[in-house]
Amino acid sequence: MVAVAKHHLQRIAGKPWATVVAILCAILFAILAAGRGPDKETHEAVLAAFRLIDLNNSALQRDVLQTRAGLLNNYDPLDASMGGLHDMLGQLKSLFRKTNLNDNEKLAALLEQLSASIDRNETLVEQFKTKNALLHNSLSIFSKILTDLNERPSSDLQGLPANFDELGNLMLRFSGYPDADLARRINILLHSTSWANSTDNVLVSQLATLAVHGHMILMTLPSVNNIVADIQTSDAPQRAQDLQMEYLGAYSALNLRAMWSRIFLGTISIILCIYILFLVYRLRLQTDRLTRRLNFEDVMSQIKKRFDNESSPDCVAAIHDTLNLLAVFFDATHHELIISNVETGLVQEVYENHSSGTALSKTLMSDFLDDLRRNAAAQQTPRQRFFYQNLQSHNELAFTRNALSAGVAVGMQISARYAAMIIFEYKESRPKAGSDEVELLQHAIDLVIQCVDRVRKRHERDILEHRLEHAERLQAVGTLAGGIAHEFNNILSSMLGYGEMALQILRRPSPTRHYVNEIVSAGERARLIIDQILTLSRKRERSSRPFDMVEAVSDILHLLKVSLPESLELSPRFADRPAVVLGNPIEIQQILMNLCKNASEASPDGGKIDIEVSPVVTRSTRPLSHGVLPSGSYIRLSVTDQGEGIPDSILPHIFEPFFSTKSHAGGTGLGLAAVHGNVAALAGHINVDSAVGRGTRFDLFFPVCHQAPVPLRQFFHEEKVPYGNGQTVVILEKEQKLLMMHEEKLAALGYEPVGFVELSGILNWLQSNERRPDLVVLDVASLKDTVTLSQLDEDLSDIPYLLISDQYRTGPLSEQNLKRLGALKKPLNSKSLADAIRRKIDTGADAQRGRVGSKAVGG
Ligand SMILES: Nc1ncnc2c1ncn2[C@@H]1O[C@H](COP(=O)(O)OP(=O)(O)OP(=O)(O)O)[C@@H](O)[C@H]1O
Ligand SMILES: [Mg+2]
Repeated sequence: MVAVAKHHLQRIAGKPWATVVAILCAILFAILAAGRGPDKETHEAVLAAFRLIDLNNSALQRDVLQTRAGLLNNYDPLDASMGGLHDMLGQLKSLFRKTNLNDNEKLAALLEQLSASIDRNETLVEQFKTKNALLHNSLSIFSKILTDLNERPSSDLQGLPANFDELGNLMLRFSGYPDADLARRINILLHSTSWANSTDNVLVSQLATLAVHGHMILMTLPSVNNIVADIQTSDAPQRAQDLQMEYLGAYSALNLRAMWSRIFLGTISIILCIYILFLVYRLRLQTDRLTRRLNFEDVMSQIKKRFDNESSPDCVAAIHDTLNLLAVFFDATHHELIISNVETGLVQEVYENHSSGTALSKTLMSDFLDDLRRNAAAQQTPRQRFFYQNLQSHNELAFTRNALSAGVAVGMQISARYAAMIIFEYKESRPKAGSDEVELLQHAIDLVIQCVDRVRKRHERDILEHRLEHAERLQAVGTLAGGIAHEFNNILSSMLGYGEMALQILRRPSPTRHYVNEIVSAGERARLIIDQILTLSRKRERSSRPFDMVEAVSDILHLLKVSLPESLELSPRFADRPAVVLGNPIEIQQILMNLCKNASEASPDGGKIDIEVSPVVTRSTRPLSHGVLPSGSYIRLSVTDQGEGIPDSILPHIFEPFFSTKSHAGGTGLGLAAVHGNVAALAGHINVDSAVGRGTRFDLFFPVCHQAPVPLRQFFHEEKVPYGNGQTVVILEKEQKLLMMHEEKLAALGYEPVGFVELSGILNWLQSNERRPDLVVLDVASLKDTVTLSQLDEDLSDIPYLLISDQYRTGPLSEQNLKRLGALKKPLNSKSLADAIRRKIDTGADAQRGRVGSKAVGG
């Protein structure tokens, strides 16, 4: 898990670089997208330059005309226009360089043409300025001379051929429309102005000047007009317009390209931004996942700690704590852990925090078990067999139902025999768990199961150790009991035997018969004590059949009442329904005797003892003071007293043999040990709840048996004793006293007893006596160690024989042989002895009849 978390951490750690790179790329592309193409300012400047070129061209043409017409005093406006044109040209060049249009060849050629055209205009303007100055100079002199001549007295001009008025008019018309005819006529007039014979020198010089300037006007005026016309028709405006058109075309093409590249780069940066968002989102998810994993690790370590705590004796509480922790982590309101047997499908253990979901959990578990059985052949280790299912959400709309989950069930086969399943139910439906969540659940169940398994093994080991210790003590008791049983049994046999014989003699009711009766019942109780010791030490060979607990308890109530002090009140409470369990009612009665005896001893001032029989159903494994109670149906037998209670320090030891706080008062410490033995014989469980000063409650849980109960009297052999009819019964008993008792008992049962203390005595008697006995009764402990069964058969030939054995002394014969031959066990009571004798004699007579019959047929 830690490695997985580290791996995730590394993956997440790697991501920030990718995010940073993506952010940088996005920013770069966004900048590129914004920066492509001519900017608006440059474009505006270019358009302004074109406008100024137009303006300067128009101003130039206008100013040339005005200058030609003599409306302007100087040429400054012309120079300003030319200067403006040059400036704008230079500005255009630099602006084109800025806008990446420098590479456009057509634009460059047009720019060159415009530049050449402006240069040409400049040359024309310079020529115009020179020639126009000359022209205006000549025109002003010419018109001044004409004015002077016109102001002279006509006598001065007498004899001159020229008509100065006409000349003036012609010149005026010529300056407006300079055509060749006017020039010719002016020329003629100018030639006729010379007056060589005149003495008036001023007039002569005036006439000469007039002729010179007249000719000058005729010469310059057409060329000035031509220059003006050239300037007016200059192609500079056209070139400027062509250049502007070309620029606008190039600009829009560039703009279009820039737009596409902006769209492209913009798209890339948007994609990058989306990618960044995606990365950030993933980073967030990864972080959440890692946080969840770390929290999960934390929960897991808490769980491990909870289970690793060796001192914690309460395994069930630990499992419940664990499930609660996991439920909080997975946000579940209900949780359940079921452990089932794969083969039988039976639920072994259930741990839950509610009592509503069993039907569902049982269905899910049985689905899982079916799955496991179907796939049993697949080569998988048990832990690989995994089950996961979302619980259907019923509260939501149909179309969302599939995406929502009301809870999860995770199952796992934990061993060849067992499978476990955890079910969490959410408070509200939520989206189905992702693979990560499923993995966590898988880890969780794995860990819980491992821990439960470990704790269970530890618990089982503790129980085994405890049992071993208990068994060792029992063995010691058994050995002790074995040592005393023989003597005790013989004494008991004599007592019971003589008692019964006395009862048979004293047929009429009398005080003596009553006392003997009491002796016999005391002997029976002594037999019960022996039984109690035997219960402790070894298994009783009691018949185990279904019986009604209420009947068994009711039957012993009278005996309990008479044997307990009067200050104690017995308060029985029984369930209405039959409470059938499997076993022997004697065991229940022994248990009750012991528990009530203890209760009475703990209540020296009297009080009440409650005896209750009731059915109990547990849906989950319950911890008990002494072990656990698996889920199931039980009959509970409770004995509650209001006595002094049991201190916590001694509570764990009360079931140990010989543990007693009453040794001073003759307590043996065998009572509760026998209870424990009896409860175990009935497959039951014990819980003790005690508070010092308030009292003690013993709850015994016995599994319910669903068969019809056998009536109680069938357990106690209350049938009539079969009597003999004077048949001869030879008996072997090495102890003289016992032999006498047996002989008397046999006689009382209607047989004719012949007693011997040794087997050889019987054999001699058989040889010397003609009378064949009907039965030989042999105490096996009185046989010599060398005697074998085959020898016995041979010696007694076809005389039937009955063996009587002791619990601990089987004599020379094996336990197996004794069992096979139906040997009777001491202590003997009249009924069992009479029954056995009758059976043997009857089968012996049948066998003899068979033999006689076969002889007759053969003979
Ligand atoms: N109802 C009870 N109230 C208080 N203490 C009890 C009760 N039952 C048993 N104990 C305690 O458990 C011990 C063991 O009981 P157990 O019946 O095995 O032996 P005992 O009663 O001492 O001897 P014995 O049964 O031979 O008379 C008792 O000595 C007593 O301390
Ligand atoms: Mg006792």
